[in-house]
Amino acid sequence: MKGESAALPLASLAGGVLLAFVLGFSLGAPRRLVSLVVSRHAPHRLDGRVEPGEYRFRWQDEASKLRFEWSIEGDRLLGAVFSPDTGWVAVGFGGEGPLMYGADIVIGYVDARGAHLRDHYATTPTNHDPDSALGGSDDVLAAAGLETAEGTMVEFVRPLAARDSTDQPIESGQTHVIAASSETDDFAAYHFGGRKAVSLLDLFAGPPAAAERGVLPDHITDVQIMLATWMALLLIVGAHGLASQWAARLAEVPGEGPASGADAAVALIAVFVLAELAALGVFAIGVVVAAPAWLVGSALALGLLALAGIILLYGRAFVPWEIVRGEREDGIPW
Ligand code: HEM
Repeated sequence: MKGESAALPLASLAGGVLLAFVLGFSLGAPRRLVSLVVSRHAPHRLDGRVEPGEYRFRWQDEASKLRFEWSIEGDRLLGAVFSPDTGWVAVGFGGEGPLMYGADIVIGYVDARGAHLRDHYATTPTNHDPDSALGGSDDVLAAAGLETAEGTMVEFVRPLAARDSTDQPIESGQTHVIAASSETDDFAAYHFGGRKAVSLLDLFAGPPAAAERGVLPDHITDVQIMLATWMALLLIVGAHGLASQWAARLAEVPGEGPASGADAAVALIAVFVLAELAALGVFAIGVVVAAPAWLVGSALALGLLALAGIILLYGRAFVPWEIVRGEREDGIPW
């Protein structure tokens, strides 16, 4: 149990750390961390591009891939709508329905001359007209857009208040929000491609855009799961190997209570106890607030590991070898 056998645990630890780096890069961890710190409060710019953190809230409809991001600033709503389509994209607020009826719509497309956004109102369940043709006014205060190979993004600013009878006010509480897009730049065209989405959103409360940009991704691939498994295995084997060698050295002077070894063991036990308390605290709070399963599970695993460490250290450092041997002879399975 001396120097030469430390090579295997060290190699195992090194392998684990290497895999951790590979896994971290494959999950885009550096980019995620940087965007978490740097771009959390990206300034709002009307340029047809949405930087991470530019808008406070985000609703993405997974089926249609339509995305609406927005912030409330003072008496205005700053919004951005994205669609993989290259015709018009639109978002509508309020209205009793059925379908689109009564929605206050911001609709726009992008062509060679730039972005064209309008304030419309759904006059029937399946049709909409410009406010300006209905006796109201066009209340899109500012707008921009960009069409790329990925699709179309339009950004706009509109007042929270209704300025005419064809506007719906944006208020706190549940708002019926619709979104749709088309492959043509004609405002009167139907969403033939089937890209349409409906949601009930509290436009003052979320869902927050930041949730999608956490440090952890939503999905990981099979290869990443394999990397994570090997990483955990190598790290555990390495750490366990080093810890048992260290504990064996502590026990090398049995019964005589090696002062420095015992002090180190007490210090390490104290660290483990703190880790145990922290892990159990996180676990308990996690259960109460229904935190993500990965957090609750990791806290429990850490707690168990810390407990195992405490028991191991206590046994190795403070239970004299004679007692262990005596109890083994008594048939107690130490
Ligand atoms: C002149 C253009 C449009 C026409 C002719 C049209 C027509 C229709 C029709 C016939 C339906 C019912 C069938 C279906 O679900 O596909 C519908 C539903 C829908 N439309 Fe439109 N639409 C137009 C523009 C828009 C715009 C600009 C938006 C977004 C602001 C929109 C959002 C929706 C949504 C979300 C539904 C589904 C509603 C629900 O299931 O409750 N439509 N539309």
